[in-house]
Amino acid sequence: MAPLLEAKGISKFFGAITALHDVNFHVEHGEVLGVVGDNGAGKSTLMKILSGLFVPSEGDLLFEDRPVKFSSPKDARKLGIEMVYQDFALAGNMPIYENIYLGREPGTRFGPLTIVDHPKARRMAADHLDRLHIHVKSVDQNTEDLSGGQRQAVAIARATAFQAKLVIMDEPTAALAVKEVGKVLELIKSLREHGVAVIIISHRMDDIFYCCDRVMALYQGTNFAESPLPATNRNEVIGWIMGHKGHTTGLAHDRLQG
Ligand SMILES: Nc1ncnc2c1ncn2[C@@H]1O[C@H](COP(=O)(O)OP(=O)(O)OP(=O)(O)O)[C@@H](O)[C@H]1O
Ligand SMILES: [Mg+2]
Repeated sequence: MAPLLEAKGISKFFGAITALHDVNFHVEHGEVLGVVGDNGAGKSTLMKILSGLFVPSEGDLLFEDRPVKFSSPKDARKLGIEMVYQDFALAGNMPIYENIYLGREPGTRFGPLTIVDHPKARRMAADHLDRLHIHVKSVDQNTEDLSGGQRQAVAIARATAFQAKLVIMDEPTAALAVKEVGKVLELIKSLREHGVAVIIISHRMDDIFYCCDRVMALYQGTNFAESPLPATNRNEVIGWIMGHKGHTTGLAHDRLQG
């Protein structure tokens, strides 16, 4: 089967800055892919291209083997590609259920107007959260009052409410407490069980080695290395982030693990 999403020869220039240079990328149906790299390696830029927020300066995107061009996140969303941003994941001061359906509420359309069916939206939101094992007091709770982990979970729920095929998460655990990190990682595993592909950017080796099927490293805007997870180890992946290639000895691995 063709990859779910593929990118060929992607470059992105911001004025004189080359954020990405000739990057090739693919993610398979239902795969959890970890993307690693140092600060400024181009991870977020690549994901913003895959989710339609940035247009690449060069290169091509293929969705299920068909060439596609995204001029906005709306175009990517139509194909089932959703991105969860770390910091501005949710609109504050709004109930959970409205956040989940923001702009796509169930209701009756009258020309440009939609009369939102609030009871139905509440019910659908509660069912969806249940399916993902996300526990909140009530879907009427204001998202501003949620913990960081709950907020991240609701953002993921929103990204998966509309038959997503691919959910891209940029550092979903960076700002979370240990207990909340575990919940987000469990959520990623449950998405995979539902056949949804996930790309997770993370600096935390625990995240990568807990839930990924494959890991790829970018280095200074280029492809550096990639491997199925069982064929690599933390020490090697940490090496890739720093721009070192080749297998490391068990001794060095032990030393790094403390
Ligand atoms: N909108 C922009 N305008 C100009 N330069 C940008 C823009 N976005 C990213 N860059 C530059 O592109 C390069 C890659 O940035 P990017 O945010 O993709 O890195 P990253 O791998 O996500 O890093 P981090 O781990 O710090 O999030 C950096 O040099 C950055 O300064
Ligand atoms: Mg980034």
